Amino acid sequence: MEQLLQQLENYKQEIAETIANTPEAVEAFRIKYLGTKGLLKSVMGEMKQVPNEKKKEFGLILNDFKLFVEEVYEKLKAQGEQESATGNEPGLDWSLPGTPIAVGTRHPLSIVRNEIVSIFKRLGFAVAEGPEIEDDWHNFGAMNLPEDHPARDMQDTFYINQDPAWLLRTHTSSVQARIMEKQKPPIRVICPGRVYRNETISARAHCFFHQVEGLYVDENVSFADLKQTLYFFVQEMFGKDTKVRFRPSYFPFTEPSAEMDISCLICGGDGCNVCKHTGWVEILGSGMVHPKVLENFGIDPNKYTGFAFGMGVERICQLKYRVNDLRLYSQNDVRFLQQFTGAL
Ligand code: DAH
Repeated sequence: MEQLLQQLENYKQEIAETIANTPEAVEAFRIKYLGTKGLLKSVMGEMKQVPNEKKKEFGLILNDFKLFVEEVYEKLKAQGEQESATGNEPGLDWSLPGTPIAVGTRHPLSIVRNEIVSIFKRLGFAVAEGPEIEDDWHNFGAMNLPEDHPARDMQDTFYINQDPAWLLRTHTSSVQARIMEKQKPPIRVICPGRVYRNETISARAHCFFHQVEGLYVDENVSFADLKQTLYFFVQEMFGKDTKVRFRPSYFPFTEPSAEMDISCLICGGDGCNVCKHTGWVEILGSGMVHPKVLENFGIDPNKYTGFAFGMGVERICQLKYRVNDLRLYSQNDVRFLQQFTGAL
């Protein structure tokens, strides 16, 4: 009898502590305690073992117990109904699948920039950035484009202030200047960033676009290093079958200078609109850093040499993803942007 009473106390405690968050759990409670094979039934069965003189007393206790279990059951049931009606958390069924959240996609230009950066990182290049609002010196002067230099006309500039001249950088070559004034050789950096030019917006030109600049200055850096580095880049970026050619060119900050073309990926070299039927597409400008540029930063051109290059991210993206209109990059049309899901 004593033991039985103790047992009932334990059950009571267990029942009082039951949490039933879902209709299923409430039903399980009912089956476990009130069902035909439930606990209540089996406790009632114990009555047989109780001596006759104690039957009345025990009967009352059992009745109390029954009322208690029923009361808890009603309470759990009511709670569940109320909570699922209000959507409160305990009424939620956590096992249900969630509502999918639409995840944004990376912008194609970011995807391509990240890929360019990761290729050069593997070659030991560090990443650097510079300001988009520049002064005349870092954008032009230091890069061997003194005032009235005719090559300034190659890049139509947005001026913010006349005197002193502040402008939106026209190329990421300005970051070369920012690096060399702080750091001495060996220097091996790439500088991704946005640049601005006063151009009429069309499918082929935009007033802002993106470049990745590269700069490598050390002892004994040669044109062969430049070629090999860029050749490696092209193979990694566009595949082993891509052909490369260098054409002599002119940039004030490099001597000698070269532009690099790759075989057209759109037509495979047969000739199309993108390559203007030549089979080749220009992707970057490059050259050996002009001794004057090194001198501007107190780097001895007799001891150190370097190469530099600058490439357009939009152009590389065009070749890689066949984007035929520059305006698409900045129109924020989700039908365009959604096509790049999954890429990093
Ligand atoms: N800054 C040049 C441009 O925007 C690209 C360029 C050419 C960068 C040659 C370089 C270079 O670093 O060596 O057209």
